[in-house]
Amino acid sequence: MRVIIVKNYDSMSKLAAKFVKEELLKKPDLVLGLATGSTPLGLYKELIRMHKEEGLDFSKVTTFNLDEYIGLPKDHPESYHTFMWENLFKHININPSNIYIPDGTVEDIKAHCIWYEEKIAEKGGIDLQILGIGRDGHIGFNEPGSSLASRTRIKTLARETREDNARFFGGDINKVPKYAITMGIGTIIESRKLILLASGVNKRDAIKKTVEGPITAMVPASMIQIHPRAIVIIDQEAASLLEREYETWEG
Ligand code: GLP
Repeated sequence: MRVIIVKNYDSMSKLAAKFVKEELLKKPDLVLGLATGSTPLGLYKELIRMHKEEGLDFSKVTTFNLDEYIGLPKDHPESYHTFMWENLFKHININPSNIYIPDGTVEDIKAHCIWYEEKIAEKGGIDLQILGIGRDGHIGFNEPGSSLASRTRIKTLARETREDNARFFGGDINKVPKYAITMGIGTIIESRKLILLASGVNKRDAIKKTVEGPITAMVPASMIQIHPRAIVIIDQEAASLLEREYETWEG
């Protein structure tokens, strides 16, 4: 695992965008795994800038999002569909038919999850997966206790996660959906490369456990330790409990 400590959120976003750009230049038909939440917003802004100012081309890119709430219509302001369109897709030249996000409104969720896995396989697997991390160490919506071999499926959200995400639902935890569809940890780990991003003091416990703790289903992100090409980009606050020496980036 390559851990890179940067000074702040802005540097984290810029470095992550630099890695995505490198991969995209090497492989214009990159299969990119995407995450939601506040953490990757700066990365998406930087990718939009690169598209507009440097002509970074997304026309052949395919994307797969990690997760989606169950029960929110696609056009709900807090659905991950809306999030992705507002914060990335509508600003770049991606082909809408190459965008995949789990659909939390389907009747047969099980069949949909199987279809999602099949689509990932059909596109040749994910080349580069972007990950944020929950305060409880979740990736996607794989909450503590998730099987480390899990595939795309329905998960019950942890109370902590619903509390954290209540800020997007007018501060009301009761408005936060209780269930979500998420790629499994097994699905995520099969991506050829992973970039996990974290910023701020709220993430320091989760990062400490992910990077320097044992691999355990109680900290789903710790599973990235087994990945041969995982990069963890964290700012100084998120890194503040780490005890070992790591690479730094001053950009
Ligand atoms: C949600 C998403 C995760 C994300 C996490 C952290 O639970 N499903 O993919 O990593 O939030 O969000 P934030 O980046 O806002 O801290």
